[in-house]
Amino acid sequence: MVREILIYPDKRLKLVSKEIISFDTELHTLLDDMYDTMVAKNGVGLAGIQIGIDKRVLIINIPIGDDEDAIQPKDNTLEVINPIFLEKNGSTIYQEGCLSVPTIFEDVKRAKHIKLEYQDRFGEKHIIEDDEFLAIALQHEIEHLEGHLFIENLSFTKRKKFEKEWKKLGNKR
Ligand code: CO
Repeated sequence: MVREILIYPDKRLKLVSKEIISFDTELHTLLDDMYDTMVAKNGVGLAGIQIGIDKRVLIINIPIGDDEDAIQPKDNTLEVINPIFLEKNGSTIYQEGCLSVPTIFEDVKRAKHIKLEYQDRFGEKHIIEDDEFLAIALQHEIEHLEGHLFIENLSFTKRKKFEKEWKKLGNKR
């Protein structure tokens, strides 16, 4: 089921998400709904708080194939619960966007390489390591779990510019 996405500056996006303890059908429904919502909005990642659920859960589904023909099969979804960084090093810059800040794309500096421990929907622990796009996406989504958005990483001047632009866009909505 597609759920409503919270849009900046919705205050709920500032909540620090809580650890997941029960790996039950409620969690599985949440994960399934997150997938439906993300795909409906053409996103590559979504955190629970973006649909108003302040739990430490996020999904990522990197499209396979070229732009218009790209597909996001459900079984290619990475479901990450209670993530903990084990390693973070190097740096890289990538132009990011976010379903909670639609139409805005800005360069953000992140760690290049990450190693992460997390649980899957059944509570099983896994370790994942990456130094490409997945590493960037994971850092973006985990930031949501801490109550932060990618635009908070912008310089003072760029942030001011964004707020001005966002206000203008809001007037059209
Ligand atoms: Co986001």
